[in-house]
Amino acid sequence: MRTRLIASGSESERRRLLAASNPGPLPVLSAQSLAEQKQQLSEAIAINEPASTGPGSKRHSGEMSLPAPAPASFEVIAVVPPGLEEVAAAELQALGAEAVRPLRRAVSLRTDLAGFYRLHLRARLPFRFLRQLDRFPCPDRVALYRGVQNAADWASWLAPDTSFRVDASGGSRELSHSHYSALQVKNALVDWQRQHWGERSSVDLDDPDLSLHLHLSPGGGPRRQARGDHEAMAVLSLDGGGASLHRRGYRAAMGLAPLKENLAAGLIALSGWDGSVPLCDPLCGSGTLLIEAAAMALGRAPGFWQEADGHSRPRPFALQRWPDFDPLLWQQEVAAARELERHTLASGLPLAPVIGMERDPAVLAQAQANVSSAGLAPWISLHQGDARDFEPPEQPGILVCNPPYGERLGEGEDLEQLYADLGRMLKQRCGGWTLWLLSGNPELTGALKMKASRKVPVSNGGLDCRWLKYEIH
Ligand SMILES: C[S@@+](CC[C@H](N)C(=O)[O-])C[C@H]1O[C@@H](n2cnc3c(N)ncnc32)[C@H](O)[C@@H]1O
Repeated sequence: MRTRLIASGSESERRRLLAASNPGPLPVLSAQSLAEQKQQLSEAIAINEPASTGPGSKRHSGEMSLPAPAPASFEVIAVVPPGLEEVAAAELQALGAEAVRPLRRAVSLRTDLAGFYRLHLRARLPFRFLRQLDRFPCPDRVALYRGVQNAADWASWLAPDTSFRVDASGGSRELSHSHYSALQVKNALVDWQRQHWGERSSVDLDDPDLSLHLHLSPGGGPRRQARGDHEAMAVLSLDGGGASLHRRGYRAAMGLAPLKENLAAGLIALSGWDGSVPLCDPLCGSGTLLIEAAAMALGRAPGFWQEADGHSRPRPFALQRWPDFDPLLWQQEVAAARELERHTLASGLPLAPVIGMERDPAVLAQAQANVSSAGLAPWISLHQGDARDFEPPEQPGILVCNPPYGERLGEGEDLEQLYADLGRMLKQRCGGWTLWLLSGNPELTGALKMKASRKVPVSNGGLDCRWLKYEIH
């Protein structure tokens, strides 16, 4: 369970007074749970790397200090959609990350500042990157409070005019409520500030300068935990993106039940499509699969958005407000990412046709708007029509789709008939093509009357789904 700490305005002031004698149990503040964020971190991320030095030296001075020098390298957790851990690990490794290890809903890695910037600008699959400040034994709330105060050089990371927020996930025997743990972190920090400066930061949930994340794990294996001799651990990290990285900024219009952009990118990566053969989505909705695919093939970095003047610029990231932000290094990574943008494939060959079809004219118009705002209109053609009437290009390629499966869309419609008709159409007209279909309902996919050659479990908005591969004969 992940908790967001809420304390602002007069309410935070009231709590501040209540919190005067920390460490100690506090009344719990109101908890606002963002379903999306909870989903990303709701189940414990197994952060079981060996202890390592956090960024910056730990120093406790009463004065404001110069920006902390960035450490040579540091531990990072990439939070990724469930089911995409392996493919995300491959992506992060290809971007230069070291010691890459897939975990559950996460990938652990090591990188330096340049690599951290590169990952934010260019990785397509993660929701967020958490840069480890410190990792410490955390048997109880006192240890948490002290550990947080010692976790970093707060004199440089958290001046009183720096706003922050705290999220917490996981838990241990003594600290099982993530909301309470988040409060302890907040209290430890504002108490430290008051002692050193006589004033404290404000908590800002929407646009904080510093977004802190605490992860608690019970420690030890199941047997040690059963004996009660485990050593609970805490990891305190900074979220480099701020907002979730799946929001690329091109999708003002979202159709019905759209896929998240990073999930779509992961599904395309699993399909192995490289832009050299046609890619078609006959039920394209708001076009997410096609947009992510074309962006990938043309080297468009997901951390950039297209401006109205036709130029791409990096989106704002939380890490740009950190005291050890290195603008020169950032510019180098921005320039390197921009250099990858092409109008052709890396080989110089043109991108093969990328085609979408959508029955609903209003959704099709949204898809068109999204394609344009992603700057991909010259490469993606969209048509209105029924997928049953889909006519594929002559050269066989890859079909991808995410048809309605009854949970949120298509209730009342004869979905079994739709799947049976799709199966017939595919066998009649798409011999030699490969189909990848996202299924949330095995009964419906049974109606295709086709045999999947691969089944990859993934989660789409909390629904247990399968990314199914079919070779069409
Ligand atoms: C789950 S949504 C696809 C979402 C899409 N992957 C996205 O990210 O936006 C399914 C889409 O199929 C469309 N659809 C349903 N039946 C269709 C049909 N027979 N032919 C074409 N499109 C259809 C719906 O209008 C809806 O937009």
